Amino acid sequence: MHFFYYRDGHLYCEDVDLARVAEKFGTPLYVYSAGTILDHYARLDAALAPLDHLICYAVKANSNRAILKLLVDAGAGFDIVSGGELHRVIAAAGDPARCTFAGVGKTREEIESALEQRVYSFNVESEAELDYINRLARTKNLRAPIAVRANPDVDPRTHEYVSTGSHENKFGIALGQLPAVYERAAKMRNVEIVGVQMHIGSQITEAEPFAIAIKKLAPIVRELKSKYDIKFFSIGGGMGIIYRRALDSGSGQWWHDHGGEPAAFSVRDYADAIVPPLRDLGIRILVEPGRFLVGNAGVLLTRVLYVKKSGQKKFVIVDAGMNDLIRPALYHSYHEIAPVKQPVTSRNNSTSGGRVAKMDVVGPVCESGDFFALDREMPELDEDALLAVMSAGAYGFVMASNYNSRPLPAEALVRGETFSLIRKRQTWEDLVSDEIEPEC
Ligand code: LLP
Repeated sequence: MHFFYYRDGHLYCEDVDLARVAEKFGTPLYVYSAGTILDHYARLDAALAPLDHLICYAVKANSNRAILKLLVDAGAGFDIVSGGELHRVIAAAGDPARCTFAGVGKTREEIESALEQRVYSFNVESEAELDYINRLARTKNLRAPIAVRANPDVDPRTHEYVSTGSHENKFGIALGQLPAVYERAAKMRNVEIVGVQMHIGSQITEAEPFAIAIKKLAPIVRELKSKYDIKFFSIGGGMGIIYRRALDSGSGQWWHDHGGEPAAFSVRDYADAIVPPLRDLGIRILVEPGRFLVGNAGVLLTRVLYVKKSGQKKFVIVDAGMNDLIRPALYHSYHEIAPVKQPVTSRNNSTSGGRVAKMDVVGPVCESGDFFALDREMPELDEDALLAVMSAGAYGFVMASNYNSRPLPAEALVRGETFSLIRKRQTWEDLVSDEIEPEC
């Protein structure tokens, strides 16, 4: 469930009219709902209650310190993939001892910092990395806690760029090789085996792939437990969210298009599929959700600059671009686009009878891939209209860039009736301030 809804024709986030937030901080602007994030966290926590579990929020989805702080206070652990993410968690008063450090290319500096900070586990992706961690831990006279990432070779039925658990991906170690890797690790003096990990992909909208992967790994987890007394099994993240019809998701269901019919996948379905087999394992379970916690908790506010007609086509040119939110350009992903002030004709959930037309909603960046919607049927929009690109809380700001020398957008957080800036907008001056005059 999320807290974005229309009240008297105005799009609200919790108890705040989004137009007020845009007025105060300008656009493009990311706005997040604290209540939504905490609601999602609480629902997942409750669904996993039968298990000894730790929710390790995947920081990569949205790493603003204010968001991390909300989750620190809710009791979350963190799944980090870089030294920078560890630094952010610490800056948000998070505990490194509740952090798992993942990623295929950890550098020396990152490993050393994570060792010093005493992270909960290094999720190791290759034998070469295992050797390196062991060597670096030796120089510090420490034992590095490790879990090997298993690749269960399961099709998560999602976009190829975010599928990670099949044998064709660079991630993890094939199940057949796993026992030998653990045997090697067991012989290393500066490594302590603490767990096993998997992650099969992102935006997965069915429970079945999770259940299949768990079933494949269960015998291995049992064996590792009896041989090495491992403490945890991390099943990764990847739970999908609703992107289509994002505004009717008050039911807490995640919808996705499936053979023309929307199918629902809820946190209940997820828990029903995974809790029983995991409970049988009698081991601590870690989950690493990113998108599920923050995806539907954020919108990108943008203003219409120009409405342009060219031939048969109609373009709505907005002040946000692919540099602010790259998901449509990169994955062709669908984001609902909602007018912050609903045109009178489209109120009461009906656009019939009102003026609607097909249009492309595009940004100012000099690339044809710079779009938010193509041939989308939308109410007629006037110049200066404020729009909300929905479900932009995950993999939105974190993937933003300065392409076309566009300053990074600002971010704001809403909590009940209050809202505040949590990242100021970059300025043109910021764009050049890190650059250095050459001495040659
Ligand atoms: N754990 C690991 C090891 C991961 O690689 C990821 C995401 C997660 C957890 C969190 O996955 P989530 O629960 O958020 O699905 N930029 C893409 C998504 C990339 C996901 C990468 N890994 C997008 O915008 O859809």
